[in-house]
Amino acid sequence: MSQTIATAPGKIILFGEHAVVYNRPAIAAPVTQLRATARIEDMREPGVRLCAPDLNREYWLADARDDDPFARAVLALAQTAGLTEWPALKITVSSSIPMASGLGSGAAMAAAVIRALAFHLGLDNLAADEAVADLTYQVEKLLHGTPSGIDNTVVAYEKPVYFIRQRPKNQIETLKVARPCHLLMADTGIYSITKDVVGDVRRQWQSDTERFERIFDNCGRAAESARQSMELGEIDRLGKLMTQNQRYLEEMTVSSPELERLVEAAQTAGALGAKLSGAGRGGNMIALVREDREELVRLALLRAGAQDVFKSVLT
Ligand code: MEV
Repeated sequence: MSQTIATAPGKIILFGEHAVVYNRPAIAAPVTQLRATARIEDMREPGVRLCAPDLNREYWLADARDDDPFARAVLALAQTAGLTEWPALKITVSSSIPMASGLGSGAAMAAAVIRALAFHLGLDNLAADEAVADLTYQVEKLLHGTPSGIDNTVVAYEKPVYFIRQRPKNQIETLKVARPCHLLMADTGIYSITKDVVGDVRRQWQSDTERFERIFDNCGRAAESARQSMELGEIDRLGKLMTQNQRYLEEMTVSSPELERLVEAAQTAGALGAKLSGAGRGGNMIALVREDREELVRLALLRAGAQDVFKSVLT
């Protein structure tokens, strides 16, 4: 009885969320200490058993609903591999990534399942970063409508990426960070459904296209400048660009009073910059800090209502 384990990290969007759906550049990074894990074990009993102990769920693949993300990840791999008959398997997922909080929990779960299954079945070509990103995108598309492709890319590559959505192939460049960037991620504790927020931005863009195109252009320019700043190690400038990006997100109406309270608190406590991260209207915000200010900013975020604060260092 063999077993195979694979994991995938959470993610933060540093620059360009929402605008990236409209083909503007964006930057995202993995959060390596928060991870989804998939374990595959051979079984005696025939069938594919899906287990999600964190959610108290266990069921057969054959009984899964069409919109079940766990089953969609398994089926995406099976379809691409042309699998018609399943070996008897038990697939268990668990995750330390908070759900519906902008940290890519869904994409990470799918990527971990796809990679673990590919390895377990000896389909090593489907365990490569690009293949895992593509298959995870298929799952995201089924569940989220119009994902840009940045979330599945960063969780599969596990590196900071500069990303532009384009056809026939997205532009994906892994980024070199000249100086470590110390980030704090603070959770508002408010669930946010990416699909709903992305849909709402689309409706606003449809009714006021010129204004939204201008906002998206500004986000794209901020992402381009941020890329230079990261590569040159200009941390102060990077912080300013983050706060600028937060203003553009406020103009898109995807911020919220809770997020803004945290952004404000981080800045007052000495953060170099702060913004919401991900779809917005809840979920997480991120603050760029100097190492010697980290604890002060962390405490300020907790006082301002953060449910949890995680540290992450981009290198
Ligand atoms: C979600 O992490 C990022 C969004 O830009 C949606 C997407 O890119 O698919 C809001």
